Amino acid sequence: MTPLSHLLYERARRLVPGGTQLLSKRPEMFLPEGWPTYYRKARGVEVVDVDGRRYVDVSIMGVGACVLGYGDPDVDAAVHEAVDRGVMCTLNAPEEIELAELLCDLHPWAGMVRYTRSGGEAMAVAVRIARAHTGRDTVAFCGYHGWSDWYLAANLADERALDGHLMPGLDPAGVPRALRNTSLPFFYNRLDQLEAIVATHGRDLAAIVMEPRRGEAPEPGFLEGVRALADETGTVLIFDEITTGFRMTTGGAHLLLGVEPDMAVFAKAMANGYAMAAVVGRESVMTAAQSTFISSTNWTERIGPAAALAAIRKHRRERVADHIAHAGDKVREGWRRAAHHAGVPLRTKGLPCLPEFHIDLPGGRVLATLFVKRMLERGYLAFFQFKPSWAHRDEHLDRYLVDVGEVFEELAEAARKGDAQERLSGPPARDGFFRLTEGRQEEPR
Ligand SMILES: Cc1ncc(COP(=O)(O)O)c(C=O)c1O
Repeated sequence: MTPLSHLLYERARRLVPGGTQLLSKRPEMFLPEGWPTYYRKARGVEVVDVDGRRYVDVSIMGVGACVLGYGDPDVDAAVHEAVDRGVMCTLNAPEEIELAELLCDLHPWAGMVRYTRSGGEAMAVAVRIARAHTGRDTVAFCGYHGWSDWYLAANLADERALDGHLMPGLDPAGVPRALRNTSLPFFYNRLDQLEAIVATHGRDLAAIVMEPRRGEAPEPGFLEGVRALADETGTVLIFDEITTGFRMTTGGAHLLLGVEPDMAVFAKAMANGYAMAAVVGRESVMTAAQSTFISSTNWTERIGPAAALAAIRKHRRERVADHIAHAGDKVREGWRRAAHHAGVPLRTKGLPCLPEFHIDLPGGRVLATLFVKRMLERGYLAFFQFKPSWAHRDEHLDRYLVDVGEVFEELAEAARKGDAQERLSGPPARDGFFRLTEGRQEEPR
């Protein structure tokens, strides 16, 4: 870790439980003791850390939020204009309405929209509306949907219920035990599991919550089967498009999958990293928002909708989804070629717009961490996941892939000699949920 980053992170660990506000920004997830952690400036694909070191980001681009690249000039210009006109007022910002029309235009099955400023919040709003609409409590879900009580309640029933749903081991401490059995997990492409939930809880099922697609492609009939179960039981189908939205197309990935939900939830890329989230839904369901209380001061500020309007319009105008699919494919192919050439057994997975690799060797995690370390030394924020952006041009990726090729050669040598840990000279990256407080590291749970 560079000197100032190190000092800041030491201070953070004393002041902030867990060190960062988001699990996926902990340096331990990338390169413990080595990841730069804090940035001074980010523009396009370039990041300058607090110590003034420059990197090209070929990793997760603001945790998938910056689909246009950092500090996109068109989005920033719209934000500057919003700031000039005042971002908060006793009256409402008209951009809210313009954005609602645009979102309903992109998703013709939907007729109404509510906003929040973060993804987890928007998911909580969607589930509340579904519960208010149906007058029921239980939620069937698959995948990760944020930090809220409704979701973590799944782990009250069975400590491992959330394992395999993107973030293993999330601890439900602080979630009322009375919520036990209100959130029931099923796995993607396992219609039988959802059917079993419906068989026992169908009459109390308020919502089915899932990403329309993430890693695996839907098996034929899976999404249609989910839709049919929702229809048969009068359950609200909620597609979480917080990560998939504005990556495969302008709008939700479901637009390409031929199945319409009752609500779709967007955040992250919809405003290119500005705080903005939306619940888009059918009028018949969304009106239930009026029968409960869903309201917050900062959901009315102007920057979020102004940024979202500019980001979505640019996304559509420039056909950004095509570009990021191209960039993702190029990198995935480059990883494969480099691994094949070096003799590193590599598995790639994920959508073209969200590729990732895994090294299929004992000690693969140490080797993947060594990859992060060596790429960092060469001036890249690189990881085994890549979230491409509009700002990633072929020349960035061509240069990156040359370096990947050389680093993979070293990984192969380290695997042959069995000295990857010595080369890493530090702990490997960690994943999942683990506590980091008072400088004390506990084992992953
Ligand atoms: C599918 C999905 N749902 C919900 C969330 C939570 O969104 P946020 O981090 O904005 O609260 C995320 C974040 O990674 C996500 O990927």
